[in-house]
Amino acid sequence: MTEQVGNDYDAMAAGSGEAGEFSATYWEDRYRGHAAHGSRPPNPQLVSEAGDLVPGTALDAGCGEGADARWLASRGWRVTAVDVAPTALRRAREHAAAIGPDVASRIDWVAADLTTWAPPAEHFDLVSAHYVHPAGPHDTFVRRLAAAVAPGGTLLVVGHDPSDRHSAGHVTAGEVAAGLDGDRWDVVVAEVRSRHVAGHGGAEITLRDAVLRACRRP
Ligand SMILES: C[S@@+](CC[C@H](N)C(=O)[O-])C[C@H]1O[C@@H](n2cnc3c(N)ncnc32)[C@H](O)[C@@H]1O
Repeated sequence: MTEQVGNDYDAMAAGSGEAGEFSATYWEDRYRGHAAHGSRPPNPQLVSEAGDLVPGTALDAGCGEGADARWLASRGWRVTAVDVAPTALRRAREHAAAIGPDVASRIDWVAADLTTWAPPAEHFDLVSAHYVHPAGPHDTFVRRLAAAVAPGGTLLVVGHDPSDRHSAGHVTAGEVAAGLDGDRWDVVVAEVRSRHVAGHGGAEITLRDAVLRACRRP
């Protein structure tokens, strides 16, 4: 099946170099250089992995223009959505406001760098990060996110698997899992998933996601 609208940031990332180049300035320039996405759908791995969770508190780490945060909030989650790019956050806030107060009032937008920002410890029922390419070692980034998950909560990290020829900033599900303390976490999903999207120019391309879902032991 081909999604009508792919994650344009996948294509953005393609050809942009290695993860170290994904600075705050890089992302802000990217958003300024592209029109807003409007009502883009949530990421499919989020829908498939979080659709069965009871709504609680969620952290959307690297929220971009807020499609995932809006989807979570529309399902009753109370969302903290963090991004380093001011233009993305402004658009995200505007999109949520356009939906209405029910959704908008359930999202707190936070401008912060996830490599230094300290989320509240053991606080969120769900921490979700899709296609964030942090500077520095990925396991350090994962540990920071994992520390924010409440006992019994879920960590969902999705990245571009190295087998994805259309994206950059690669990471494997195993590398993500390596950031977790095996005594405290149960890995529920650690796999590569293909998805088909319309690339720039309209031709179908296949993206390969590295998906890590883990549950923090109570
Ligand atoms: C490829 S986009 C993905 C956006 C969104 N998660 C999605 O799937 O549509 C990566 C996002 O992560 C954000 N980001 C990258 N590094 C970050 C950091 N260190 N702190 C906060 N946000 C960051 C970027 O600004 C960008 O919005």
